[in-house]
This record gives sequence, C-alpha cells and structure tokens, in this order.
Amino acid sequence: MKKTILITGSTDGIGKLTALKLAQDGHAIYLHGRNAEKLESVISEIKTAADNENITGFVADFSDLEAVKKMAQEVNQQLSKLDILINNAGVYKSRVAKTADGYDIRFAVNYLAPYLMTKAILPLIKKGDQPRIINLSSAAQAPVSLEALAGHQTIADMEGYSQSKLALAMWSIHLAEEHPDLTVIPVNPGSLLNTNMVQEGWGFHRSSADKGRDILYDLAVAEKFKNASGRYFDNDIGDFGDIHSAGDNKEAIHALIEKTDALLN
Ligand SMILES: NC(=O)c1ccc[n+]([C@@H]2O[C@H](COP(=O)([O-])OP(=O)(O)OC[C@H]3O[C@@H](n4cnc5c(N)ncnc54)[C@H](OP(=O)(O)O)[C@@H]3O)[C@@H](O)[C@H]2O)c1
Repeated sequence: MKKTILITGSTDGIGKLTALKLAQDGHAIYLHGRNAEKLESVISEIKTAADNENITGFVADFSDLEAVKKMAQEVNQQLSKLDILINNAGVYKSRVAKTADGYDIRFAVNYLAPYLMTKAILPLIKKGDQPRIINLSSAAQAPVSLEALAGHQTIADMEGYSQSKLALAMWSIHLAEEHPDLTVIPVNPGSLLNTNMVQEGWGFHRSSADKGRDILYDLAVAEKFKNASGRYFDNDIGDFGDIHSAGDNKEAIHALIEKTDALLN
C-alpha cells in the first residue's frame, strides 16, 4: 500500500537518502528543508532518480519556532492524512549557538521543533494507516538540564547536542505511552555516519550513511517494527537498547514534558 510520508531535514544526509529509497517504492513523499533552492533541487533530483512525480516539500528553518508553526499549518492544509513522520532534521555544530528566542540551537532544532510540529499535526497522523513516528536520537545522550532547555544556561556544542537527543528519546517514550494507537520509535541511526554533520563536527566517519538510511527505511515500513512503539532502537548494536539512565524514568520524563509545554505555550 502506498503511504504518505513526511521526512524533516531531507535535503541532505540520511534524511535525503531515506526519502529516495522510500520514493523508489512509489510512496508520496513530502520533503523538508530550510533552504528553498536546495529543497527544489532535491525534489527534482528524487523525482528523476525514483521515477516518482509524487514528491513535494516544505520550507522552514527549525531554529525559528514560528516558522515551525507556519509549516505545521501548511502541512495541515495540504495533506488529508499522514502515515509516516520521520523527525530527522538535526544540528550539531553551528556558527550561531542561540536562536533569536534565546534557546540553544540544538535544543530548538533537534527537540523543540519536532515536538511542536508533531503535536500540531497529530490529528493528521491519527488519520494515517497504521501511523508511525520515527524520531532521530543518537548514541550521544546526556542528562537534560531544564535550565539549559529553557535557554538560561550556555552549554557547549556536544553537551547541547547530547541533551537534546536524550530529550527527544524521553519525549518519544512519553508520546508512545500517551497514544497507543501510534507507533513511535526513537532511534540512534548509527554513530559517525558519513554525512555533512559528521564531517563538520568530527572530520572523519566510521560508517557509510547508507547504514542510517537502511534502518530509517525499515523502521518506517517494515512489518517487524509495527509493534515496537516506545522502544529505543540502537543501530550501533543493531537491536533495541536502553536510553541514558538519567532519562529512563517516569519522574524525569514528566518533568521534561511539563517544562517543554510551559515553554512552548
Ligand atoms: N550522521 C550520524 O552519524 C548521526 C548519528 C546519530 C544521529 N544522527 C541524527 O540524524 C539526523 C540526520 O543527520 P545527518 O547526519 O544526516 O546530518 P546532515 O547531513 O547534516 O543533515 C541534516 C538535515 O537537517 C537539516 N537541518 C539542519 N539544520 C536545520 C534547521 N535549522 N532547520 C531545518 N532543517 C535543518 C539539514 O538541512 P541542509 O540541507 O540545509 O543542511 C539537512 O537536511 C540528525 O537528527 C542527527 O542528529 C546522525
């Protein structure tokens, strides 16, 4: 059955590779990027490479939460249902550490933006056929400081990245519990895959980006993951694993969600 799929941050890296692989199966793919020209060029490239005309996209800079809200409105207007959402857009190194709203850029792009987007389009996802939400976490996870999340503490790049990725995994577990009719899977796609983020941040890679593409593809459509909601998939071990212990408890998750809702409302 052909699915309707939205992949954020699909103008490059593993998001783009995953979009191409899913497009080759004939699904309707909605791409997303922060740069309109790059997005248009990737849409044409995927249409041709996959021989699939059903490729379109949305532009929004996820470091601007107003832009995220605007994109969510567009998604709600243009789509009648959404079967698969892959929250993939992410940032590690950035010339600008803080957003205009005062958030650490990693918390904004990697956690607050997908949180806001998903919540705003949840009714559309609920109309999907066996809907799935795949959230891109990482092996890099660190205890979340609610003060840092609120932008009241300045933190180093790696600290911001790791905290944002644990926050995303914690929220995924919460979302899965809150909505048993959805399949929500947080994933570490594999460490040091060959993408721009890794080249800019570390200067070397350990594995091909195809490793990340293949697990995102499987999590999105493979039957075997249909009942894996709320479980964290760690592609470094190729199996389900545990998130950082600091986030793996109800109290910490409750405090995170309460703070996030307070910030976003
Ligand atoms: N690569 C790895 O080893 C690895 C490991 C663990 C987790 N991950 C996660 O996997 C996801 C994809 O990463 P990747 O390695 O494929 O990185 P990438 O090649 O740098 O791709 C990141 C994507 O996110 C988009 N993006 C970045 N900042 C954005 C913003 N402010 N607003 C909107 N879109 C934005 C980028 O847009 P542009 O095309 O405009 O740059 C690009 O499409 C990320 O969430 C990352 O944290 C990656």
